[in-house]
Amino acid sequence: MATPQTGIFALGTLSHAYLELDRRQGADARELVRHVAGLREPRTTIGGVNLVAGFRPELWASVAPGSSPPGLAGFTEPLVGADGYTLPATQHDVVVWLAGAAYDVVFDVSRGVVSALAAHATLAHEMVGWPYHRDLDLTGFVDGTENPTLVEATTAVTVERGAPGDGGSVLLLQQWEHDVDRWEALPVPQQEQVMGRRKLEGDELDPRPETSHVARTDQERFGQIFRRNIGYGTLTRHGTIFVGFSRDRARLDAMLASMTGRGGGPRDRLTDFARALTGAYYFVPSSEALATFEEEPAH
Ligand code: HEM
Repeated sequence: MATPQTGIFALGTLSHAYLELDRRQGADARELVRHVAGLREPRTTIGGVNLVAGFRPELWASVAPGSSPPGLAGFTEPLVGADGYTLPATQHDVVVWLAGAAYDVVFDVSRGVVSALAAHATLAHEMVGWPYHRDLDLTGFVDGTENPTLVEATTAVTVERGAPGDGGSVLLLQQWEHDVDRWEALPVPQQEQVMGRRKLEGDELDPRPETSHVARTDQERFGQIFRRNIGYGTLTRHGTIFVGFSRDRARLDAMLASMTGRGGGPRDRLTDFARALTGAYYFVPSSEALATFEEEPAH
């Protein structure tokens, strides 16, 4: 199997930046990909910053046909739930996720990335993420409990050996703003009903409400994904950056549909306390697939 980009699985970094860029009008897609592939320097030299790069699926397919799951598409249409609850579509062309020990190095490398790509792409959206009390999200619950282990994840959430896109992964990136006042007004036992887990201990409720977040996203039903969610924001506006990797888009789509109450089930109660501001799908090719471009001569 081709090697997944290692930063996907590099846990424990304390500072994160997610840069979403749009191709400049008239810029050549192949040149853009070649320059992204060439962003190698920061990974090895500046303070050990991990770099994960992904592409709008249609853009990647146009330069590397047959090297991603067939039919994979970006988040181009808002997803509207049964009662009108909407997840917005804010697709961009490239994502670069940088993660390091502290924001100073992440900041420097981020600036380097934007300037290295400047002739080909412009920065459209940026998010800075930081872990909240190690593994909590900003609701105060432990986030990531049901993730596959690192040993399982490298194969569970990447495209299988020999299939188009071998070693690559589909990333769903969404910025969710929390309604903190509303959430904090809710007594803890009710917050636990919303999540379907105990707040302090993290155990799943038995029985768990059908409207709970863990019931709406149950991996036994939808398949495994690997989440690298992280907190973001300031005192006035903050929430969760949802960073979910999967071997296909279908299971992420199915989870989102289930959260919005499409297809007959109830809407996820968590959506009463958090709303998505952005949403995009990216294909994160294997290291080898990306390196093919790095070696290409300039046009
Ligand atoms: C505001 C946004 C979100 C927050 C704060 C959040 C938080 C949580 C928490 C606290 C858990 C329980 C612990 C765990 O297993 O990790 C959880 C579980 C989970 N979440 Fe989310 N989540 C958010 C959005 C999403 C979205 C958009 C998806 C899918 C597209 C998703 C997929 C999952 C999955 C698959 C699980 C594990 C379910 C299981 O198999 O038990 N989450 N989330």
